[in-house]
Amino acid sequence: MKLFHALLALGVATMLVGTPARAVELSIVSGDTGDGIKVLREILDRYEKDSGNKVSIVVMPTSGTDQFGQYRLWLAAGNSDIDVYQTDVIWAPQLASQLVDLTAATKDIVAEHFPSIIQSQTVNGKLVALPIFTDAPALYYRKDLLDKYGAKAPATWKELADTAKLVMDKERAAGNRDIWGFVFQGNAYEGLTCDALEWVMSNGGGQIIEPDGSISINNPKAAAMLDMIKGWVGTIAPPGVLAYQEEESRGVWQTGNAVFMRNWPYAYALGNGEGSPITGKFDVAPLPAGTGEGARAVATLGGWNLAVSKYSKHPDAAIELVKFIASPAMQKYRTLKTSNLPTIQALYDDADIAREQPIVPRWKRIFLNAVPRPSAATRIKYNEASSQFWNAVHNTLSGDGTAADNLADLEAMLTKLKGRGW
Ligand code: GLC
Repeated sequence: MKLFHALLALGVATMLVGTPARAVELSIVSGDTGDGIKVLREILDRYEKDSGNKVSIVVMPTSGTDQFGQYRLWLAAGNSDIDVYQTDVIWAPQLASQLVDLTAATKDIVAEHFPSIIQSQTVNGKLVALPIFTDAPALYYRKDLLDKYGAKAPATWKELADTAKLVMDKERAAGNRDIWGFVFQGNAYEGLTCDALEWVMSNGGGQIIEPDGSISINNPKAAAMLDMIKGWVGTIAPPGVLAYQEEESRGVWQTGNAVFMRNWPYAYALGNGEGSPITGKFDVAPLPAGTGEGARAVATLGGWNLAVSKYSKHPDAAIELVKFIASPAMQKYRTLKTSNLPTIQALYDDADIAREQPIVPRWKRIFLNAVPRPSAATRIKYNEASSQFWNAVHNTLSGDGTAADNLADLEAMLTKLKGRGW
């Protein structure tokens, strides 16, 4: 009887302090840009309070290319220290076999998300990651400077170059010595694949590799576009742009030293943030189009997701964590803080978001029309195909070979890669 009472008391005590026996420690890896890590921590603090579990963040470099290399090594080694990976929209086919299938656990909530995004994270019927935000780039422009010189947001790349030069020359002549016309992501990494896909396709030069797997990149419209961009390096764009990723471009832009910037929506909240020298001085427009037949404005589709490692020791808790971070309430919180585009359809009609981050409802159409990189077509070979592409572009922009020669070489390399099967 005494023992019974003792056990009962223990049981009650356990209930009162929560369920310590079931509390688990999880870890999540993320290389998010801007305020992404800070906001993730705030979301995790809420989760810890609600669940009694603990979550630590393993912070990675912001280059997706560097993250991908590391994640592949960890997964290949069966690393059980990482429970949740923050994954880029393009990685699903390459990492699918090492991630937990989320289909059953999310069957009641997937319909809240845009079907196209869920589709992008589904490989052979397996949902390998749950989206937390999507991405479609904008042309950021200094409204104050364009107004000052009677210029408009450009509709074509040619207009962008002309306006950038006009404003930059006049501003420099007036003593604004550090101003540049245009900053973008020119480093040799995945971000350059995004920028260059926009340049090439917006000029009618195709999608690098088409959805049916055919290699289309070696064509005069693609080459003409890359030659034009090459002419911008060191003229309207700083010579250092060939080493810029997202954050370096934003650094120049946010200190007030660029007329135009190509970047993702996260730069909107930061540019309007407290202490930013450009608060209230800028706006966003769709990226420009090329010129000639087949030209149109193109935005590359980006976005980030959460996946549970097959090697996690706590897959059930990890799945619950992923669902928490991807939930409508947490996506709303993230969007209000970071201007990341949510993947929950209803949030595009949310009055708080429209007021605080007006880019979000404005960007719904752009994101829905955004062009995917050829990751579905090249599947497990995407990373190699993309790195061959960004290297050909980077060489061209650096003056190492003409666009025509580099694209001919690229076609030969991609053909070889395809021959080994993708
Ligand atoms: C953004 C996009 C991602 C893309 C990356 C390139 O983070 O969301 O999809 O791969 O930029 O740098």
